[in-house]
Amino acid sequence: QSEQHSALAAPVLIEQSPSNGAPLLSVIVPTFNERGNLYELVRRLAIQLQEIAWEVIFVDDDSPDGTAELARAMARANPHVRCLQRLGRRGLSSACVEGVMSSSAPYVLIMDGDLQHDESILPRMLQALVSGEADVAIGSRYIDGGGIGQWDDGRAMISRFATRLSHLVVPPDLKDPMSGFFMMRREVFLARARALSAMGFKILVDLFASGRKPLRFVEIPYQFRNRQQGESKLDNQAAWDYLMLLLDKLVGHLLPVRFIAFAGIGALGLAVHLLILGALFKSESLAFQSAQASATLLAMSFNFTVNNLLTYRDRRLQGFGWWRGLASFMLACSIGAIANVGIASYVFDAKGQWLLAALAGVVVGAVWNYAVTSVYTWGK
Ligand code: GDD
Ligand code: MN
Repeated sequence: QSEQHSALAAPVLIEQSPSNGAPLLSVIVPTFNERGNLYELVRRLAIQLQEIAWEVIFVDDDSPDGTAELARAMARANPHVRCLQRLGRRGLSSACVEGVMSSSAPYVLIMDGDLQHDESILPRMLQALVSGEADVAIGSRYIDGGGIGQWDDGRAMISRFATRLSHLVVPPDLKDPMSGFFMMRREVFLARARALSAMGFKILVDLFASGRKPLRFVEIPYQFRNRQQGESKLDNQAAWDYLMLLLDKLVGHLLPVRFIAFAGIGALGLAVHLLILGALFKSESLAFQSAQASATLLAMSFNFTVNNLLTYRDRRLQGFGWWRGLASFMLACSIGAIANVGIASYVFDAKGQWLLAALAGVVVGAVWNYAVTSVYTWGK
């Protein structure tokens, strides 16, 4: 077996190592406010990658701390360094995808920019790929020899739970699908790139769940280090993004996840409406008509606010745009309500069944609201 491997490895290496010094490996590093870590990261990469041609591509989302300026300054002094600065965008997964798409090296590595990933396993990762043993080599915290470092119990528990959930869409023998540290053949990445959801943080889960053919992988243990400079960007909303990614992988081929989120929030809005209506009307502070009107306005504002925070997190409206968005949302939903009542009345007259009629009205209204607000309220 091992003889077969070494027999394979030599020609592969000779064929794939560019003789003109072009990189064999691109290290893709998504960054947001990592200024204090860049220099040390490049220094450590240079030590591990002495023997091969490599480059590092920082994909920065216009960090306010000037990460991109520093990366470009470093690039002028060091030909291994490149910088891809994105404007008006945020997203760890999409940054990784665009970094890989900007590379022409046969092998790509995704790695955090905050020194938490242990660069000393890079040679072993590359070896596993070049020898043909695997298509993806994953830095793993959840196999023997790996570890999560000094995470508090809360974060450790959440990570384990999220890992369990991921097994809905990735193979169960993959122990650390949440890893943001892995190397793969660029061609293999490319073959799946169009099927990626590229939402949120979990690019590896996305990759494993985005193709029909199983990926051949190995996991290589490492100890997750503590962050020395800057802070984590994984916030509560990352949980929402992760849920949306899983939903997209499970049912995305049937319904867009944004629509599912929009409809769910709409149902919540109905509950808010009824609660407000009950409170205003029952307490006899308002006549029914005024109570219903107030409840409608408040429920619409609630729906707009929550959709703006979650469903359209990536296109979130702020400042003046928020007010304009609220106005267009209310206008669209008012027309949706008219359509809802119209369709429901039509079905009721034709079939005489109130529940069926109501459902038909609600579905048409929801689809209308979603379609119109996705273009006029949150459209680009
Ligand atoms: N371009 C870009 N855009 N980069 C980002 C963004 C963004 O919106 N958000 C975070 N990053 C960069 C950070 O600057 C860092 O280099 C890297 O992505 C990881 O972000 P952290 O905020 O440090 O995440 P973490 O340490 O809590 O979690 C990471 O490591 C885990 C273990 O591998 C993530 O990679 C998790 O997905 C992973 O499970
Ligand atoms: Mn980190």
